[in-house]
Amino acid sequence: MKNCADLLTGITTTGTPHLGNYVGAIRPAIEASREENKSSYYFLADYHAIIKCQDPEIIRRSVLELAATWLAMGIDTQRSVFYRQTDIPEIPELTWILNCMTAKGLMNRAHAYKATVADNEEHGRKDPDKDVSMGLFSYPVLMAADILMFNAKKVPVGKDQIQHIEMARDIAGRFNHAYGEHFVLPEAIVDEDTAVLAGLDGRKMSKSYNNTIPLFVPEKKLRKLIMKIKTNSLAPEEPKDPETCTLFATYRAFATPAEVKDLAARYREGIGWGTVKQELFEHLNTLLKEPRQRYNELLEAPGDIDIILKKGAERAREHTVPFLENIRKAIGIQRL
Ligand code: ADP
Ligand code: TRP
Repeated sequence: MKNCADLLTGITTTGTPHLGNYVGAIRPAIEASREENKSSYYFLADYHAIIKCQDPEIIRRSVLELAATWLAMGIDTQRSVFYRQTDIPEIPELTWILNCMTAKGLMNRAHAYKATVADNEEHGRKDPDKDVSMGLFSYPVLMAADILMFNAKKVPVGKDQIQHIEMARDIAGRFNHAYGEHFVLPEAIVDEDTAVLAGLDGRKMSKSYNNTIPLFVPEKKLRKLIMKIKTNSLAPEEPKDPETCTLFATYRAFATPAEVKDLAARYREGIGWGTVKQELFEHLNTLLKEPRQRYNELLEAPGDIDIILKKGAERAREHTVPFLENIRKAIGIQRL
């Protein structure tokens, strides 16, 4: 059994990346992409995106923006393999093969599907499967194919995705049992230390809550959004608790320990919200200025992004083409 990827993760291409996505998913992956002696695979999950979004322009734009974000933030495309899921035709082929190895009962338990059914029941809808496409229902099988295709050992994900990695293990185990040891059983990596950023209203920053600060908004808009972050109504001179403050938590996610300590001390002495907001804006803007410029340049040159993604896919396919050939043989699909 060939071990291919030490690390693999995908990001669904819906919506514009925000500060939370960066801190929680993009930054740790980019850091890992620079590690030596580790094979890491990062991909844009655009087949996953069409499950939830049927607007072609949003899909196209979102692939462009996400690819530009990763590149602008400095993913190492030499050390790691960076590609687009839909550039690898072996993935949907493996998905079908794995579908035939997946118990329907296992998919009945998948939480994205269950949440839709629960919502239909709650609203008294006659059909509990209303709005459930086969894409949504079998989403974990596509995700298993993404992972098993590269025999990925470790899969860094958010907590909500752990169940899907467990399903991938289950499917891999079943396949191995039937056809011999072809797949590595993947493991989810959830970094408990990674900050979960709050949004403008204090709830978790999420595009579903409409409370995000997009990573690369223009400078003026960034300032405007930071000024909108919710605070309490303590007067400037009153001492403040840094630990319960969205502004402080956001600053902490982007600052050095010394800078964090310094701001915490000023909170306790009493600092005006206007001052904190202005400093947070200046701090973020300094960090984001250069990548923002690169990002805007990349958006103007989608052809260049295509070339990079195509190269990534070519490298990925050096593995996927022979690997799938082997799988096909294992199940009895070969030249006569
Ligand atoms: P959204 O909630 O905006 O739809 P996604 O669910 O598409 O975001 O998340 C994409 C990735 O970004 C996941 O790995 C997720 O864990 C991470 N992420 C999303 N929101 C945050 C946040 N507020 N703080 C930290 N990480 C986040
Ligand atoms: N479903 C994941 C998400 O929404 C994205 C994803 C697709 C993924 N395929 C994957 C993550 C394979 C890790 C491995 O966040």
